[in-house]
Amino acid sequence: MAQLWGGRFTKETDQLVYNFNASISFDKRFYAQDITGSIAHVTMLAKQGILSAEEKETIIDGLKGILADVESGKLEITDQYEDIHSFVEATLIDRIGEPGKKLHTGRSRNDQVALDMKLYTRDEIEVLNGLVKEMLEALLVIMEENTDTYMPGFTHLQKAQPITLAHHMGAYFEMFKRDHERLTDIRKRMNTCPLGSGALAGTTYPLDRNYTAELLGFDGPTMNSMDGVSDRDYLLELLSALSIMMMHLSRFSEEVIIWNSNEYGFVEIDDAYSTGSSIMPQKKNPDIAELVRGKTGRVYGALNSLLVTMKGIPLAYNKDMQEDKEWAFDAIDNAKGCISLFTGMLKTMQFNKDRMKDSARHGFTNATDAADYLVNHGVAFRDAHGIVGQLVLTCLEKKIALDELPLAEYQKISPVFEEDIYEAISLETCVNKRVTTGAPGQTVMKQVIEVYKKYIETY
Ligand code: ARG
Repeated sequence: MAQLWGGRFTKETDQLVYNFNASISFDKRFYAQDITGSIAHVTMLAKQGILSAEEKETIIDGLKGILADVESGKLEITDQYEDIHSFVEATLIDRIGEPGKKLHTGRSRNDQVALDMKLYTRDEIEVLNGLVKEMLEALLVIMEENTDTYMPGFTHLQKAQPITLAHHMGAYFEMFKRDHERLTDIRKRMNTCPLGSGALAGTTYPLDRNYTAELLGFDGPTMNSMDGVSDRDYLLELLSALSIMMMHLSRFSEEVIIWNSNEYGFVEIDDAYSTGSSIMPQKKNPDIAELVRGKTGRVYGALNSLLVTMKGIPLAYNKDMQEDKEWAFDAIDNAKGCISLFTGMLKTMQFNKDRMKDSARHGFTNATDAADYLVNHGVAFRDAHGIVGQLVLTCLEKKIALDELPLAEYQKISPVFEEDIYEAISLETCVNKRVTTGAPGQTVMKQVIEVYKKYIETY
């Protein structure tokens, strides 16, 4: 047991209490951020004349040595310390002696941990945003290649109207673009430095909080020391953003699972992203997509847990807040894993274009266009809807598609139909006449792709 606070105690902490209280098993992962924060703190203390230049140099050299040794594996972070802050400080004192004892001047572990967690989260947001960008790029490649790959669009999982693969992928581009914007937004809002808030009421030392903030790449210091040590909003925002992103991934997974089924056969997941069955030799299962769908629940759980943890905490710091870490780490790790694996799966997935087109041709996805044809020839839409309903019934009896029904049959139901009905209800026409912004028509889709390309280039 190595603690920073034994002075006013007369008894050793019970080992079980010690274990229960300790956080080193999980907060050791932000040792680098802890050291970065300490280096900035010490630099500021020296600038303010609180530490001498020599003390500063000795401390910073010591901290850099610890960082290098942890990174090379020479120095192990062991459970004998309560948390990562204790580990770094104790090791520093061990290595450099007296000056090390001055590191914690004008600082509390409360503002220290608030800083470390922010630095860690900020770094992870960068990584996450990079992964979202890879997803957007992968989607864009598929879109560019498939502005004329026809497939059925669904509502209620029933074939509805024909669309293109580019259009379908574009819907996901929009979702992940919003995810990217949300992450960027969180990073902006969270970018204030809590260091200098002290335990809760600031400090009597003449700290230059603007300077520390600047050294650490923040836009400025936090403006209320009680909020500074106890704000976890940015984590809740991140977990919300990740929950939404996971919801998108989960919906996408669900579609891939359906598309990959024998019945649909729209896609074939690459062998590298599939698994087999221990008993059924023919099986090739979409486990990755299923796991992404499954892990979504875990990320939602993290958000919910942290919301519940925070709701009853009075100002300012309370130990409950230590619980933020495992939830946040788990959600971040899983979200990163899921989006990068999904992108890999997407990039290697084969689209069975003939099967998609064939599926679009059947199931009366062009029925709306047949009705629109009548409307364009002066029939009221409600009447046109009824007429095409009768045509569909006829085709169902004959087990054929609308474009396989002879003209005579059309004319039996409505004399308005002419030979050009076939052209009007072809997949190509159905899709390419839809050129309002956001629709699947090839001309407008190509314009949207240009907008997306610019978006990717400029971030
Ligand atoms: N391990 C603690 C946490 O994660 C660090 C802050 C401890 N502060 C305190 N007053 N006990 O929240």
